[in-house]
Amino acid sequence: MVSSRVLALLSYLFLPAVSEQQPLTMSSSGYELEISKQWDVLGPFPVHAREQQHLSPSFPLNLSEPIDFAKKWPSSYADGGSVGWSTTPMTDQGELSVSFPEIRWKYLRSFEGCAALQHHAVLRTTFKIVPFNPTSTVPRDTALDSQSKPNPFPPNLNILIHLHQGSYFTVLPKELGQSSENVTPKWYAGNIYDLPRSLPRLVELPPSETGEYHLFISGDYEIRLFGDPVVQEGSDVPVQHIKLEIDLEDSSGETFYVHEPSQDVICDFVDGYAFGDTVGIGLRSREGGWTVVEEAYTASSASESLGVKLQQPVRIAPGQTRVVPLRLSQHSPFKGAQLDVILRVSEGEEHTGERVSKEVSIILPLRHLPAWPHTEQRLAIRVSYLFGNANPTIFSVLPPLLAGRGSDKVPILALHGAGVDVVESERDFWANAMPQNDETWVIMPSGGTSWGLDWHGPSALEAWASVSALSDILQANEAWRGQAFPRDTQVVLTGHSNGGQGVWHSATHFPDRVVAAVPAAGYIKSQAYVPLTHSRSAHYIDPMLRAILETSLTPDDNDIHLTNIAHIPVLAVHGGADENVPSWHSRELVSALRTSNPQANITFKEDPGQGHWYASVLNSPTVSEFVDGHTGSTEGVSIPKSFTLTVSNPVESGPLHGVRIQSLVIPGRLGVLHISSSGDGVVEISATNVLHFLVKGASFLDGVKDLVIDEDSFVPDHTSRLPLSFVLKDGHWIGTNKRDGELELNPPPTRLQSILSTQSLVKFLYDTEPAFSLARRVAHDLLTYHRLDAELLVSSSLGSSVNESTVIIGTLRSPQIQEVIEKQHTSFSLRSGELYLSDKVVDMSEGQSCIFLHPSSKEGYQLIIIYSDEASLERAGRLFPIRTGVAAPNWLYLSPQMDRVGAAGIQGAGVWSSDWKFQPESSWWSSS
Ligand SMILES: *[C@@H]1O[C@H](CO)[C@@H](O)[C@H](O)[C@H]1NC(C)=O
Ligand SMILES: *[C@@H]1O[C@H](CO)[C@@H](O)[C@H](O)[C@H]1NC(C)=O
Ligand SMILES: *[C@@H]1O[C@H](CO)[C@@H](O)[C@H](O)[C@H]1NC(C)=O
Repeated sequence: MVSSRVLALLSYLFLPAVSEQQPLTMSSSGYELEISKQWDVLGPFPVHAREQQHLSPSFPLNLSEPIDFAKKWPSSYADGGSVGWSTTPMTDQGELSVSFPEIRWKYLRSFEGCAALQHHAVLRTTFKIVPFNPTSTVPRDTALDSQSKPNPFPPNLNILIHLHQGSYFTVLPKELGQSSENVTPKWYAGNIYDLPRSLPRLVELPPSETGEYHLFISGDYEIRLFGDPVVQEGSDVPVQHIKLEIDLEDSSGETFYVHEPSQDVICDFVDGYAFGDTVGIGLRSREGGWTVVEEAYTASSASESLGVKLQQPVRIAPGQTRVVPLRLSQHSPFKGAQLDVILRVSEGEEHTGERVSKEVSIILPLRHLPAWPHTEQRLAIRVSYLFGNANPTIFSVLPPLLAGRGSDKVPILALHGAGVDVVESERDFWANAMPQNDETWVIMPSGGTSWGLDWHGPSALEAWASVSALSDILQANEAWRGQAFPRDTQVVLTGHSNGGQGVWHSATHFPDRVVAAVPAAGYIKSQAYVPLTHSRSAHYIDPMLRAILETSLTPDDNDIHLTNIAHIPVLAVHGGADENVPSWHSRELVSALRTSNPQANITFKEDPGQGHWYASVLNSPTVSEFVDGHTGSTEGVSIPKSFTLTVSNPVESGPLHGVRIQSLVIPGRLGVLHISSSGDGVVEISATNVLHFLVKGASFLDGVKDLVIDEDSFVPDHTSRLPLSFVLKDGHWIGTNKRDGELELNPPPTRLQSILSTQSLVKFLYDTEPAFSLARRVAHDLLTYHRLDAELLVSSSLGSSVNESTVIIGTLRSPQIQEVIEKQHTSFSLRSGELYLSDKVVDMSEGQSCIFLHPSSKEGYQLIIIYSDEASLERAGRLFPIRTGVAAPNWLYLSPQMDRVGAAGIQGAGVWSSDWKFQPESSWWSSS
């Protein structure tokens, strides 16, 4: 048995007592990395939130050209209208404080508001790698020799960089812009939210003749991520607090894998029983080769009572980290302090067949809790389950305070604020914030991570999945079964801050699952939280292109969907002196809802003088009374005489009173159904932009004799248990009892982001080195930001199975790209080697790239990236949907102009029609 702990990182040696001028040094494997502590800084430049996904991270620099440190650049933030380079020191701990005190921030803010604090800067320093010990253990033949081994340089050394609160970084050879062969920067996303339990990234060093490199950081100040300087530091000057950690590691270690305990997933044990059915083991494969986990079992101390099972072999690409999912089963109580899991791991090069099989022993410390009720103090229990059949996930729960309760009450689903980690540090803080729960379960999902996708997409799915998971876990244990609620139960939804916004979102998008809602300190939508007024692209963009791009934000616009909660009792809570999300947001949502529906059952509780967070925001008599008033009934509210369902992206929306919109006439626009019953057996439905909808188990059709949809009349079939399906054809509605309506493939979602709403893992297929590099970087982002698993595959035609999200990256010459385009499931086609979109030639010469969604199986989607050169691949890769608020509809055709003018450099963009084809009404194409 080999302990993986032996393989911990070799060293991270900051030499003691370094002076300002001396570089920081770290060494491993016979090499030393020296990084200059002096950073050059260029900025600040106005930018709107998320615009860094469209612009070049090195904006305004073109890193293919030498840098002129004397040059000035236009910036409307600065007195006189231009900025140049300055310097800032880095501490021995790798911390940088980037600020521009000469800017009159207060003056700017007095007109532009907090949007004026958003800014971008480029930071640069240098480092070099040198052999530090001539008698080192490095074998001669691997020593520096740029002739025979220009790349990788230096050999056997992994450079791991963790950038906290910076948006991107890249490493370039010192000879920048001096050689004829330009190196294209590969940009690595930083951990801009400073998410806990995240890992550094493996950096590929470009070839360098001297071992000297530039390190560039894109520093983007985001007021909502970093806090308001006036509130936090009593200063008008925003400061970017960036932290850089660099580790060196011997890539040719004894084994190819490294255990990453911070990625492990294990539940708490209650009275000797696992409160979960899943274990996750974080394993990283070194740069050296592939690691395949073949098998898993528990060591003897636990094997009597506990078993783990690997569903299928897990392949880990060089440099990739995966959380290996194991199913946990238990036969008898277990009170040991740790769970020992043994993995059988084989490793080697991908195709040589030379593989070595080893056993790895992993120790998972266990936390044991007494059986509830926990009378002294409410104790949050950590639950583990397999989200989307692939992703070991943790959430927390509070059991009912009274013994034996919980089965006949609606649970409370509580969405945490941004930065709150329900797994570790803030678990008890968030649990203590909950309203009293004598008789109900309180479920506190992770939403993926402490930010996730702001409770949209996969984070919303994870929240709902945790409800079913708790039901399953309770049902599976004799001792707990009596307290289990049904797995598809409705909930009382509550949340604070980002989670308050999540309550507005989930209630308006999945209204039939919500009996009542308590959104606290929520914001309306990202564009209202930090206005996009300082957009660069706005100076150049065609208004029609802007409109099409903005359709990909509409599903997140909670205000647009308020008709869907007109009937749900809502108690909106907000501190009157909130310094983070102004109470204006809740007032405005309440006002919007009351304006569209004066009968809306909404109460607004503004707590005068209270800030963003206060202990009684949710744990107050008013909230407890409201919650208790609604957890009692598992019956839905009575159906009103008339109601309106508004949907922007049918894929991300559930039914209202049993009515579900499946697809739209023009996707990208809103679809609306207005339903009203006259009481004398007639129900009228008027539809706007709806192509297909279902009516399931809706009691408003009980006893109805005449159903009129627009001009068409139906007699509902009350005998069928199948949903009624209505499809618009040639201007008339056709009604059937068909399960899935008329469409062969599920209609497309309206935006790239839906690739994340997977019920499985995300599979990357690539057949070039740059594509592999991008896939590996995005896989890292998926794990960091969403804890979604990814599999990297060199392959051309792996048929994808149900529900899988697949990302295919290649050039027009890639067989896998040709194969997918030749299916012609979208309007992309190939004619004599040229790419067409409908009847338009898509010029794929230097600098151009495309990114688009493509149908795969009934449930899953593919995301296709076609690139021409590496720079174009980088541009498309930055649009891979990792963060909310990045405008990216179904298909985009990109140009190098984006580096300078952001979204205005997009040459074409659109939303597919409901059958995945080019749709003129929702498309834009540059006329040049
Ligand atoms: C950057 O500079 C290189 C070399 O001068 C040039 O070929 C390239 O077009 C420039 N890129 C952009 C986006 O302007
Ligand atoms: C409104 O909600 C309250 C509880 O908050 C409930 O008692 C009342 O019946 C609801 N009114 C309507 C019209 O649904
Ligand atoms: C696919 O996803 C759907 C939910 O979208 C789920 O009901 C179904 O069980 C999944 N199928 C598989 C094979 O995982």
